[in-house]
Amino acid sequence: MKAPSPGLLAVGAIGLTIVALVSIGAPNSRKQPVAISETSPPPPPSSVSGGGFTLASSSIEMPIDDAMYPDGPHADVINANCTSCHSASMALTQPALSADQWKATVTKMREVYKAPVADKDITAIVEYLTAMPSQKASPATGKAQDPDPRAAPDVSGQTG
Ligand code: HEC
Repeated sequence: MKAPSPGLLAVGAIGLTIVALVSIGAPNSRKQPVAISETSPPPPPSSVSGGGFTLASSSIEMPIDDAMYPDGPHADVINANCTSCHSASMALTQPALSADQWKATVTKMREVYKAPVADKDITAIVEYLTAMPSQKASPATGKAQDPDPRAAPDVSGQTG
């Protein structure tokens, strides 16, 4: 039997290469698994398909909402007493109020909404509230206002 010519060998090699590439598939014909990284999450895909259905994510704007009171003197006291019903932004978004007005707000929380605030904690809470940066703005006028409605939790039905 005659040895195959170099030309025939070359054709055979190219043919084998093509067969191999076709069976592997084009580089992007296979889905890469979505990488799950805790350190630097990639921007989430806007939709994921699989198993016959598609999950699409849409972006929603959440209201400005600070759950906790920022660090400062008595922050521990106010965070322990004033974060169980509504977020801190309820107080953080108030206009500048006097100490008496803040005390009245705390009293209202206790008497109207039954906030379990101990007598001994009231002074520290009022001190924190009057020292908040938002309170430096202007002299106190009027009474405590409901905050920006976008930041208010939906408590309809709770307050009667
Ligand atoms: C038992 C639940 C409860 C606790 C605890 C509570 N609050 Fe409230 N707070 C409410 C409710 C209910 C409202 C009224 C929400 C509304 O009208 O949308 C409110 C409203 C407010 C407002 C808006 C102004 C106003 O007078 O309505 C401020 C400021 C406020 N709370 C501060 C505080 C502070 C400071 C504390 C901690 C001493 C506190 N809250 C603890 C239930 C609570």
